[in-house]
Order: sequence, then C-alpha cells, then structure tokens
Amino acid sequence: MKKIEAIIRPEAFQTLRHQLDQVGVKGLTVSEVAGCGQQKGKEGIFRGTRYEIKLYPKVKVEMVVDDHEIDPIVEIIMDTCTTNETGDGKIFVTAVEEVYRIRTAEKGKAALI
Ligand SMILES: Nc1ncnc2c1ncn2[C@@H]1O[C@H](COP(=O)(O)OP(=O)(O)OP(=O)(O)O)[C@@H](O)[C@H]1O
Ligand SMILES: [Mg+2]
Repeated sequence: MKKIEAIIRPEAFQTLRHQLDQVGVKGLTVSEVAGCGQQKGKEGIFRGTRYEIKLYPKVKVEMVVDDHEIDPIVEIIMDTCTTNETGDGKIFVTAVEEVYRIRTAEKGKAALI
C-alpha cells in the first residue's frame, strides 16, 4: 500500500475528484494548505515592510491505495491538474505499513476499500 499526497491548485480539485470517482477511488482526505515551491513565492509588502516568502493557497489530497493503482492515479492527477504554468503542484508517493478499519478491526487491503 502507498500514500499519494497531491498538492494542487484549489481550482483543480472538483475536476480531479470527479475523475477519481470515475475510477473507483472513494477514500480520500482533503486539506486546505498553504505552501511555496522553488520560486519561494513573490516578494510582498505588508504595511510598508517587504516580506520575502509569500505562501500560496493549495489543496492537499491524500489517498492510500493499493500499489497497482499508483500509476493510473498519478496519470489522472497529471492530466487534470496541469496548466503548464509554475505552481501546478507536486505529487509525493510514500509507503504505508498498515491500515486498520476501526469499526471492524480489519487490517491491510481489506481495510482499504
Ligand atoms: N519539496 C516540497 N516539499 C513539500 N511541499 C512542496 C515541495 N515543493 C512544493 N511543495 C508544495 O507544492 C505546492 C506547489 O509547488 P510548485 O508547483 O510551485 O512546485 P515547484 O517545484 O516550484 O514547481 P513549478 O516549477 O511548477 O512551480 C507548494 O505551494 C507547496 O505547498
Ligand atoms: Mg513553483
């Protein structure tokens, strides 16, 4: 099992969610976050004082899925979340050791879906 963590433009989320639903991805966690990439954002001015790092609003979508689902899901994220402009976001994939469904005490893949 792996966790896909996609940090995307907020305006891309509804389309992404629809596309994920089409391929049967049901469980996900979404957070409104703020961040910056390699450009570190633009310089801003607050009450006459310059500040260096501006944070941009992003949406973080987390999904824990079976290994074989990684490639198609990453492809969907790439297709739906790109504008070809800087700031489209990032996708992180990490290993997940265990999953438990609290209600039934199932674990592993049985607890995923
Ligand atoms: N290395 C990182 N670690 C954690 N979060 C990151 C990292 N890089 C980017 N992010 C998150 O992803 C968001 C979007 O990043 P962004 O798309 O600007 O990345 P980038 O590497 O600068 O690529 P681009 O050239 O397309 O702008 C950031 O606002 C931040 O929340
Ligand atoms: Mg950037």
